[in-house]
Amino acid sequence: MFAVTGASGQLGRLVIAHLLERVPAAQIVAAMRDPAKGADLSRLGVQVRAADYKRPASLAKAFEGVDRVLLISSTEVTGRLPLHRAVIDAARAQGVSLFAYTSMLHADTSPARLAIEHRQTEEAIRASGLPAVILRNGWYAENHLSALPTALEHGAIVGAAKDGRFSSAARADYAFAAAIALTSEGQAGRTYELAADDAFTLAELAAEVSRQSGKAVVYNDLSPDAYEGVLTHAGLPAPLAALLADADLAASQGALFDDSSTLSKLIGRPTTRVETLIAATLHS
Ligand SMILES: NC(=O)c1ccc[n+]([C@@H]2O[C@H](COP(=O)([O-])OP(=O)(O)OC[C@H]3O[C@@H](n4cnc5c(N)ncnc54)[C@H](OP(=O)(O)O)[C@@H]3O)[C@@H](O)[C@H]2O)c1
Repeated sequence: MFAVTGASGQLGRLVIAHLLERVPAAQIVAAMRDPAKGADLSRLGVQVRAADYKRPASLAKAFEGVDRVLLISSTEVTGRLPLHRAVIDAARAQGVSLFAYTSMLHADTSPARLAIEHRQTEEAIRASGLPAVILRNGWYAENHLSALPTALEHGAIVGAAKDGRFSSAARADYAFAAAIALTSEGQAGRTYELAADDAFTLAELAAEVSRQSGKAVVYNDLSPDAYEGVLTHAGLPAPLAALLADADLAASQGALFDDSSTLSKLIGRPTTRVETLIAATLHS
């Protein structure tokens, strides 16, 4: 039996959709904080179980009979390590044969502050002795796409990444990779650096948005502090704004770039091109 935590989230739902194509629904446990969010999955025959990273007893119950677990990293901005540890402990108590974790691209060397708790979680997994596969996901392409309406309104994409290249891939591609890793043999001990085949700078992204929309959109590069201010002004909580500005700084140093094509090799097809994702966003 395969359990996916955070299964009510955007990535989790996509992983479950891919799992449904690979294993019978009854073999899938969609573990989520609020099982009411999984009513549609229950109707498909998926086992929807309550699992809150902050309630260890719920995790033990959610993993009953489970053999393979995918931990989707928590959304908390800080304080994720104890939550992840609770999931690791529950999986260990259950004696699972494979534990998969959605980490961050180059988590071992990344200068991004976001990488710290991923690195610590990877260490906790190693220390637990669990047979594990680490899925080091790059930036979601959707992070850029969600800013497109504002970019079109103001004629500018703002950031602090200078000419750093982003190998950002679609959530659906990362989800496909997670489903493959979870259901394939010989995965224990592997670490995958997952990223799109093609990379772009934010100036190139702006140029492509201009080309497709017919509206002038430029890239406006700010200092990390100024960018953090823009994000805070836009309504993001201060700690999240600080982390995102720091991630752009890290991107300017190459932290969100990878050209290993590991993701496309794992999913057996090229990753979805950002041009395609922009077109889908503009026409949605
Ligand atoms: N690579 C990137 O660019 C990038 C960008 C954003 C996030 N991430 C990471 O990737 C993860 C998945 O992304 P996503 O887009 O699927 O995020 P999402 O749509 O916000 O989903 C997050 C999921 O985590 C669950 N969750 C949060 N706190 C929990 C807790 N205490 N116990 C159990 N479940 C909890 C949420 O449950 P509820 O439905 O109950 O809220 C939801 O199912 C994020 O959590 C974050 O760590 C990566």
